[in-house]
Amino acid sequence: MNIAIGSDHAGLEMKKEVILILKDLGHDYTDYGTDTPDSVDYPDFGEKVSFAVSTGKVERGILICGTGIGMSIVANKFPNVRAALCNELFSAKMSRLHNDANVLVMGGRIIGKDLAKEIVKTWFATSFEGGRHGNRLKKICLIEDKTKTGVV
Ligand code: RB5
Repeated sequence: MNIAIGSDHAGLEMKKEVILILKDLGHDYTDYGTDTPDSVDYPDFGEKVSFAVSTGKVERGILICGTGIGMSIVANKFPNVRAALCNELFSAKMSRLHNDANVLVMGGRIIGKDLAKEIVKTWFATSFEGGRHGNRLKKICLIEDKTKTGVV
């Protein structure tokens, strides 16, 4: 798969570990930064990755900040993005099975690299179930349309 990945300074070390896993799994990736431990603003990096997913330039995205909360808020502003904050394995699995999440978000200050590695593997190994969950995603698309037109 083609993956966009990004982090702020608080997620940088974990991002380096995740990139190693992406390579192991055979995915192509583009790293949208940050590249140094200097303090940066997570929306700048969340925006780049989310835009790539939103416009279909890549199939999936991975975002990492300190908690994962800020990156999740940013990513879910974008049409077609279904970002899931997963700091444990059950959420990683369910975010794919039920939500067809296309952006995985983790908190670099919350979990360790070994857990992050398992989360990433699980997230890529799990397929969307479809069925009633597909209907629910269609409703999310309708909500996106309503937010654009202002007609609820
Ligand atoms: C940076 O200090 C921190 O606020 C950021 O990484 C993230 O946790 C925001 O949600």
